[in-house]
Amino acid sequence: MARAAVQYACTECGYTAGRWFGKCPGCSSFGTLVEEVPQRGNGARAGKANAAKPLLRLVDVRAEEADRIRTGVPELDRVLGGGLVPASLVLVGGEPGVGKSTLLLMALAAMSTTRRTLLVTGEESPAQVSLRAARLGGAEAVEILAETELDVVCETLETERPDVCVIDSVQTLYSAELGSAPGSVAQVREAAARLLRVSKESGVATILVGHVTKDGSVAGPRVLEHLVDCVLQFEGDRYHAHRVLRAAKNRFGSTNELGVFEMTGTGLVAVPDPSEVFGRTVDGEPGAAVASALEGTRPILLEIQALVSQTDLAMPRRVATGVDPKRLAMIVAVLGRHAGVALGQADVFVNVAGGVRIDEPGADLAVALAIASAARRVPVLAGTAAFGEIGLTGRLRPAAQAERRLEECGKLGLKRVVAPPETPKRPGLRVTEAETLRQALKVGLERDPPVEEAG
Ligand code: TYD
Ligand code: MG
Repeated sequence: MARAAVQYACTECGYTAGRWFGKCPGCSSFGTLVEEVPQRGNGARAGKANAAKPLLRLVDVRAEEADRIRTGVPELDRVLGGGLVPASLVLVGGEPGVGKSTLLLMALAAMSTTRRTLLVTGEESPAQVSLRAARLGGAEAVEILAETELDVVCETLETERPDVCVIDSVQTLYSAELGSAPGSVAQVREAAARLLRVSKESGVATILVGHVTKDGSVAGPRVLEHLVDCVLQFEGDRYHAHRVLRAAKNRFGSTNELGVFEMTGTGLVAVPDPSEVFGRTVDGEPGAAVASALEGTRPILLEIQALVSQTDLAMPRRVATGVDPKRLAMIVAVLGRHAGVALGQADVFVNVAGGVRIDEPGADLAVALAIASAARRVPVLAGTAAFGEIGLTGRLRPAAQAERRLEECGKLGLKRVVAPPETPKRPGLRVTEAETLRQALKVGLERDPPVEEAG
């Protein structure tokens, strides 16, 4: 009898192959192929059947704006595009501990007053959930099912037909029909595909919780992204005490909305004005500037703080936290030589708030602004961000992905951006171009020297 051939699947993109590759032929990631037992029939056919499922559903989805289910968590509603669409499948991804379970239990609690809500928990026992619920309050009417068997979950959904169901987490679901372990690519994909069908057929708005690890490995939600209607990312540590919810994909709305929360002792509390958090240079306080930087390909707003203090040391100190020390030395030199900010007799400390590291030259200008602001004891203009690379001649050079940086500034409620020439315009945002660092200081700092517009 022929043995079932071993199959390898990429945990990043779901690519399957009959042999192992160090580099995934599908997405070019390294070391992401893991062995798994092929699904019923041969692997290729099973793969095709799965890939065809979304087509089915696209026909089914006919959502009216009015039908949207308000989750009772306004930030979540906004990121979803106005609430949950009935019979849709939403994936909420994030690192363990970021607050996914908390956020969704809060939403279930709020919805349970007017709708039937179900929490399928595979990670925590009902007792644990109830402890959390007591902390958050108002979740008494939420129904709960502690189950990891996929068949049972699907059948329960079909019979009970709640309006909203949260599956926490999709990685714990297990179908005995597949040979592979819970959490494997095949299992996760099978679970999502089955739940997709059930949610469409039974009209249950279903939210899948998916864990992503820092390096994005482990049979992750990544393989589900093409299956589900919305992918929401819940991010934490990059924002320190705050949590940011954003849509990476949304079939029913834009992906530009952000939800910002703060984790407190009694759950997540919405931060209605995120610029308070990220652009929080405390108006009028010298020595702080907001950088619109890139982390990978993603824009992120960061507060740069600088302290300049007179010193008698022959070798003044240059202390950088979160900024490359060589880059800092260069910026200090250019400030002195080309922008009239002499720092030869001063210690310079620079810190990126929130413990974040920046590794890209686009943040230069904000670092320089923070230092100049500290040295001259003049604050950076309120509600202003900056980006741009500083050249050794004191000229500003365009930064990569200017549009995405501007977009992020707009999203987070900033009003002005100081940037290099040829930066695209964006409605609602005042882009002040500066050709040189000296000009940037003029237009970016308050009062002294007098503010004047360039360009
Ligand atoms: P959790 O929702 O369990 O994260 P996830 O489901 O994403 O793994 O919550 C993560 C952390 O939040 C946990 O360490 C405890 C903390 N927390 C609070 O600080 N306040 C609260 O009210 C709750 C419920 C949790
Ligand atoms: Mg959890």
